[in-house]
Amino acid sequence: MQALTVQPGEAGSARVEDVPEPEGGAVLVRALALGICGTDREIARGEYGWAPEGRERLVLGHESLGRVLEAPEDSGVAEGDLVVGVVRRPDPEPCECCAQGRFDLCRNGEYTERGIKAIDGFGSERWRIEPEYAVRLDPALDRVGVLMEPTSVVAKAWDEVDAVFARSCAQPRSAVITGAGPIGLLAALLAVQRGLETHVLDIVTDGPKPELVRDLGASYHSEPILDTGVRPDVVIECTGAGPVVFDAMAATAAPGVVCLTGVSPAGRSIKIDAGALNRTLVLENDVVFGSVNAAHQHYELAAAALAAADHGWLERLITRRVPLAEATDLLEGGGDDIKAVVEF
Ligand code: BGC
Repeated sequence: MQALTVQPGEAGSARVEDVPEPEGGAVLVRALALGICGTDREIARGEYGWAPEGRERLVLGHESLGRVLEAPEDSGVAEGDLVVGVVRRPDPEPCECCAQGRFDLCRNGEYTERGIKAIDGFGSERWRIEPEYAVRLDPALDRVGVLMEPTSVVAKAWDEVDAVFARSCAQPRSAVITGAGPIGLLAALLAVQRGLETHVLDIVTDGPKPELVRDLGASYHSEPILDTGVRPDVVIECTGAGPVVFDAMAATAAPGVVCLTGVSPAGRSIKIDAGALNRTLVLENDVVFGSVNAAHQHYELAAAALAAADHGWLERLITRRVPLAEATDLLEGGGDDIKAVVEF
């Protein structure tokens, strides 16, 4: 079968090639779609990623969507089901978080991730998965279910924000989402679903993003957060851009919560007034935290959020669909795309 593979650590090594049929999990899945994100592009540039032990190449891809071809009886999934695969697996000797099913909070870094860290991904015509890591989707989501994995990431971010407010006397009324890429737009969807007054910031002034934001019932801004006059209770930061990140921390109401989801490259310095920032965080009882990946419960939250969303709106997030043979084109750069997807 054909697969999109890469040699981690080696820039420009991605290619579509023949690979053996998948091994491993008891559920066999026919791939329908694969989403490509910044992490895949980072791996393709040789800057991230690990091949499985004893191998040079890794099957790329962690944003999956497929249809079950074979599944054991009583496995919770059956032939014909629409499924996505959970990305992360716990460390072999579980830390206290992995032992409780919270591998997204792994403490020792020994976790593995499909298509990213030491286990093959979902970028092949067929893939196998352990039944407990296959998440069933509403059959009506067959055109947009590939958005599940990024939605699970923002569902976790929101779940953690909720946990902060659960111990507070204040409840959030407004949110700013920085960045109108797929993560930002999906974070905005969940903000609107929570009934929050939602603002989305991005640098672009044209293209589909402003309209997508407005159609969600949110406000779009292309100026820096501190110039908007908005003092949000929550910021979900989805750019990873240094100045945007620090402005977000300064912009919140008291007590404000900032959740950082953007993975930024290291090695760039910016000048900040550390004293002023610290003062704001302290005097406002603010909380700033990072969030990555997602556990089972967040996939369930994501499945519910997608099922409740306007499917036409979700479909507009997927701005490019290419066949597997052209998959490496999507690894060059995001271009103007919101979400680019490989179709099988
Ligand atoms: C994926 C996460 C993963 C992270 C770090 C992201 O692109 O969505 O599931 O944990 O990369 O590897």
